[in-house]
Amino acid sequence: MRLAPVLHHPQQLFVLLAGLLAAPALVSAAPIPTRGVAWAQACAACHGPDGRSQGTIPALDTLSPEDFRTAMRAFRTEERQGTVMNQIAKGLSEADIEAVTTYFAAIQSRRRQ
Ligand code: HEC
Repeated sequence: MRLAPVLHHPQQLFVLLAGLLAAPALVSAAPIPTRGVAWAQACAACHGPDGRSQGTIPALDTLSPEDFRTAMRAFRTEERQGTVMNQIAKGLSEADIEAVTTYFAAIQSRRRQ
């Protein structure tokens, strides 16, 4: 089996990898808090990868950061009644909500570029 052409030139592969690693730092102004990433992975079980839900569960990637934050707070205080989200939102602190809001805002702004 022949290797992909790029592997014949390891220095090119290095340049490619370095570019990929540098890219996220260039497009996002605010760093994404680690706990925002961790929470978003937990949400993906129902809301799909990066909030792009395909099913009946609402997508998260279409909400503005303001609406996202407001929804999470309302679920937490039970001002808004859901089936599962009240319980889930109660597991997040205010800082967790900020972190996961920042995460979804950052992936949205990356997609717009
Ligand atoms: C067990 C499945 C499940 C998980 C896990 C889950 N959600 Fe949800 N989410 C739902 C469902 C179902 C709804 C619709 C409201 C309801 O019934 O509770 C919803 C609604 C929402 C909404 C409101 C969307 C809108 O359009 O108003 C937000 C925001 C949200 N979820 C955020 C999150 C975040 C953030 C996480 C991860 C911390 C998360 N969800 C994890 C099932 C889930």
